[in-house]
Amino acid sequence: MKNSVMLRISLALVIFSLCGNLSAQKSELSVIPIPTEYELGEGNFVIDKHTVLYADPAQTEVMHIAEMFQKQLRTVSGMLLPILPLADFEDQQHAVVFQLEPDEELGAEGYHLEVTPNHILARANQPAGLFYAMQTLYQLLPPEVVKNEVARAVDWTVPAVMITDVPAYKWRGLHLDTGRHISSVAFIKKYLDQMAAHKLNTFHWHLTEDQGWRLQIKKYPLLTEVGAYRDSTLVGHYGTGKYDGKRYGGYYTQEEAREIVAYAKERYITVVPEIEMPGHATAAVASYPQLGNTDKPVKTVTTWGVFPDIFNVEESTFDFLEDVLVEVMDIFPSKYIHIGGDEAPKDQWEASERIQFKIDSLGLKDEHELQSYFITRIEKFLNSKGRQIIGWDEILEGGLAPNAAVMSWRGEEGGIAAAKDAHYVVMSPGSHLYFDHGQGDPDQEPLNIGGYLPLKKVYSYKPTPDALSDEEAQYIMGAQANLWTEYLPTSDSREYMVFPRISALAEVVWSGEEHKNWESFKKRIPQQLERYELQDLNYSNTIYNVEIRAEYDEKAKDFEVVLHPQWEGIVRYTLDGSTPTASSNVYEKPQKLKAGTTVKAGLFADSELQGSITSETMRTPQPKN
Ligand code: ACM
Repeated sequence: MKNSVMLRISLALVIFSLCGNLSAQKSELSVIPIPTEYELGEGNFVIDKHTVLYADPAQTEVMHIAEMFQKQLRTVSGMLLPILPLADFEDQQHAVVFQLEPDEELGAEGYHLEVTPNHILARANQPAGLFYAMQTLYQLLPPEVVKNEVARAVDWTVPAVMITDVPAYKWRGLHLDTGRHISSVAFIKKYLDQMAAHKLNTFHWHLTEDQGWRLQIKKYPLLTEVGAYRDSTLVGHYGTGKYDGKRYGGYYTQEEAREIVAYAKERYITVVPEIEMPGHATAAVASYPQLGNTDKPVKTVTTWGVFPDIFNVEESTFDFLEDVLVEVMDIFPSKYIHIGGDEAPKDQWEASERIQFKIDSLGLKDEHELQSYFITRIEKFLNSKGRQIIGWDEILEGGLAPNAAVMSWRGEEGGIAAAKDAHYVVMSPGSHLYFDHGQGDPDQEPLNIGGYLPLKKVYSYKPTPDALSDEEAQYIMGAQANLWTEYLPTSDSREYMVFPRISALAEVVWSGEEHKNWESFKKRIPQQLERYELQDLNYSNTIYNVEIRAEYDEKAKDFEVVLHPQWEGIVRYTLDGSTPTASSNVYEKPQKLKAGTTVKAGLFADSELQGSITSETMRTPQPKN
């Protein structure tokens, strides 16, 4: 009786999920971030040798977007689609139209995209909207369209659809730490390409660190001659105490930085440079010791963490920082300049007679107020040049500079306090948006800083906290994910941490709370991974792996082992060291296992293994002395 009821329930579930999948195929767009409104139509538009692109030759940016589309299609299909003047478009068939048209509802970045069997009409208020319409179009086409080479035997069809798409937030950011490990210009361009494909618009470029100063400053050549290099680098995880003994370093010339700014601009991305102060300044102090607080010589740091050598507050140091910022502003036209402000230990300021004298003479209470004085001075300088500062949430301590925006990383509290105080905020909490954190079982993942940030947790993030009133919520500009690179020395290691979590971020900041939907996202992820694959990105497949979580039971002298999949599917496992196959045991409940047992597990859909096999041998914890 019980069994037959179970059977009926499972049959019903199978039928239900089959229907679910069928209707999903009909109603899901394979677009990430999911557009805010869409309705599928009947039939397809086919891009073939009859297709003609239309754009207004007088509108340079629109023409450029049409040319980008033309170039990409030529790359993958070999077809060179002509671009004709928009004025010639009279509702002909085979037309792909890029058109600017005033429509307040679409704002600066939104767009309409109408696909019918006869035409594709992309319409926007601003060129950025047309650029995003083109990104959506790429995702409506077969995934091969994103390749960098000819993809043979593909029908370039686009499903009929009506889309109106407007981003939820205006700051849709991704950060890259080039201080701990430097990224090549080519890698940064690839990063920007991917940001654009995910409709992100702000690249936060972390340029100075204890372990390396990465931007050429012409007035202070030692910043890069000395500060861009370190003698050695920590090997493996913190605590190994091992160093590789190899000189490491490099920097971006101003010409390269300008090239990146221009490349980003072409993709509607603003580059926000970060010059850290007063902390994370060891490389600068190593280059120019007069910027520091002690007489002891300092070297560019070779390990990770927070370090004591912060800037002093001499007038000459402010002159130095202003000179640096003048060169920075000349390269980076962004409204915001990030001045860091995080993790500045006050020990040297506490111990310095000159600093204590300064605190007294300025009538300040303590070192926190001195930091606030420091940041406010820099803010005044940048404001006088028409720029705004943004800093990590520590800039709230000792009093927030009057016009500063806050990047909230130690949770959301800093962001909430700043928004309540009418300051602009970018949410970037470590809990949900630190892409340097692990995304699976630490035993199975490549070396990383730790933590656990699976795809679903990124997806669940909501940039506007409930604690804010509607009026206060207006100060939340958006959110961004951060990629700190202590443990990410190669392009591959960095890509692994970013993809596919960038897809979840895209829906958090573009689709927004109202339109994102985890169940729908899950159905769209496989095709997104296919796109990553076609672009040779070293994306993580961790969502398809089974995490093995074992807990030792001291009394019973055994382990309770839970097999945890992040994704749907059937978990199969073995206990005899053999590789799980489609006929291995199906995991149903936690297992009690003895020390020495090796569990191997994999996630299966039908008979196919989804990710990789994970494996763990139960080892009795050694008593601590
Ligand atoms: C930070 O992660 N120190 C901003």
